[in-house]
Amino acid sequence: MLSHDYDYESILETSHRVNWKLEEVIAGRTLDYSRPFLPDALAGVSGIRCLSDAEKLKLNQIRGFTYLALFALVEEYIVPSVLDHVRTGDRGDDRGVQALLHFAEEETKHIELFKWFVREFERGFGTPCGVIGPAAAIVAGILDHSPLGVFLTTLQIEWMTQMHYLESVRDTREGLDPLVCSLLRHHWMEESQHAKLDTLVVDEIARDATPLEIDKGIADYMDIGKMLGGGLQTQVELDLVSLEKAIGRRLSDPEKAEIREAQIKAYRWTFLQSGMTHPKFDRSLRELASAGYTRDIEFVRAIA
Ligand SMILES: [Fe+2]
Ligand SMILES: [Fe+2]
Repeated sequence: MLSHDYDYESILETSHRVNWKLEEVIAGRTLDYSRPFLPDALAGVSGIRCLSDAEKLKLNQIRGFTYLALFALVEEYIVPSVLDHVRTGDRGDDRGVQALLHFAEEETKHIELFKWFVREFERGFGTPCGVIGPAAAIVAGILDHSPLGVFLTTLQIEWMTQMHYLESVRDTREGLDPLVCSLLRHHWMEESQHAKLDTLVVDEIARDATPLEIDKGIADYMDIGKMLGGGLQTQVELDLVSLEKAIGRRLSDPEKAEIREAQIKAYRWTFLQSGMTHPKFDRSLRELASAGYTRDIEFVRAIA
């Protein structure tokens, strides 16, 4: 149903080749607080007029922190959804089971990596920063949708992760912190196989689904997107509090309004639009259902 040339056998083979150990990535490493943590294409900080350069650097680092903390949080729902797909799937394909279990195992390692980063940041940044949660409630909220809706969300996230690394981080000249760059590079190496696996999973679910069920899956994926969008708005408010603590001054209402506007835009681009408009994701959605695809395009436009 979906056009692709992926298969479990070769994905599993590549996954084993690029696989890394957590200790090798983090051993003896620490963050350099004189550098930005995220490229400005994702952080959306450079154009904010009411902040000094030093304050912009603080906001950039807060955004680097929440970027990885939010990844740790959303990846938590991926593990049970993949295990459920293995359990309920009707497959005589051992390689497929191995590839999917390997996928789930890698996501648990990524969660561990991001949690390590969160602790490292909290140890060194100097002031506290809030993150939306609790993770269990967000995970339950996502998983409370049809498997197709859940896996379309994952597919969007997998392509988005790759785009962030390839287009914003890999060749950046912004002098980003080397540890954050290394974490994002290692994450991308494994995620590039996940996007393919996820395409296979969406294809499997859609092949057994009626047009009505496919429609429901796309509606669920958009519901999850709206739910995440609400979470991002809350995150911007938490970031304003974190920023005031980090720069040691109260922001005026007009200053907050300027930062809020820039940051809502940046968060939506980073976590929603950049994946929703990714050409590969776009193609899969269009092939699933043209009506659902049109609704998605309208949604992306509405939050732009
Ligand atoms: Fe991951
Ligand atoms: Fe992944």
